[in-house]
Amino acid sequence: MQNKQLWIAVALTGVLMALVFVAGWLVGRPKHVDAVADTAPVPVEARAVFIPGAGQIDALRRGVPVDQEGHPPPLAHVENADLKRARAYPMQPPTIPHTIDGYQVDRNSNRCMLCHARANASTFQAPPVSVTHYMDRDDQFLATISPRRYFCNQCHVVQTDAPVLVANQFRDIDSVLSPPTAKE
Ligand code: HEC
Ligand code: HEC
Repeated sequence: MQNKQLWIAVALTGVLMALVFVAGWLVGRPKHVDAVADTAPVPVEARAVFIPGAGQIDALRRGVPVDQEGHPPPLAHVENADLKRARAYPMQPPTIPHTIDGYQVDRNSNRCMLCHARANASTFQAPPVSVTHYMDRDDQFLATISPRRYFCNQCHVVQTDAPVLVANQFRDIDSVLSPPTAKE
């Protein structure tokens, strides 16, 4: 007999707990769930509003309003054409006309110097690094690459097809020295 009453009490408690759970779920449910889902931010095409060379200087957000999300632009394609680009001024580090994927440059090895060291340049038909790369800060020439020029990518970058991000009015010294023509 006593056991039966216990079972009824347990069953009633269970039903009560279920009711409390349903009530809590109904009352506590966020009321604007559907509205939020409808206005979920749609990523904005950042490239669509970006016009290279048109004075656009918002290189970070590319015109996308701060309260909206922009698509990241596609990664630039590295050119591997073996074509040297003109240097804009005499002391510009030339851009790298080949890919450098997987070329290790760290404390233990410098992959670039495999081809660009003076001694190896003829084997690989690569231009040897210039004398400046062997000079220390007191302008003394060292036998091996100067620590100041060890990490090549500090100054040299690969060539890519990336559009100009920030418009500028840089003029090469040759065009500055030459008198303006009738066309200009
Ligand atoms: C397998 C050999 C090899 C390796 C390794 C190599 N290069 Fe080159 N590099 C060349 C050759 C050959 C050229 C000449 C142009 C060409 O054929 O692409 C060249 C050209 C260059 C130029 C252009 C020089 C100029 O006067 O315009 C730069 C800068 C350069 N390399 C930098 C680097 C850097 C930085 C690394 C390492 C991240 C590197 N290279 C690794 C072979 C190599
Ligand atoms: C601190 C900046 C800097 C670093 C680091 C540097 N370079 Fe240069 N590099 C230059 C500059 C500037 C020039 C052009 C003027 C000159 O020759 O000094 C140049 C020129 C070159 C050239 C063309 C040489 C020629 O005679 O036309 C090659 C090839 C080159 N660097 C390769 C390398 C390699 C390989 C490394 C890494 C071992 C490296 N550079 C590290 C700044 C740097």
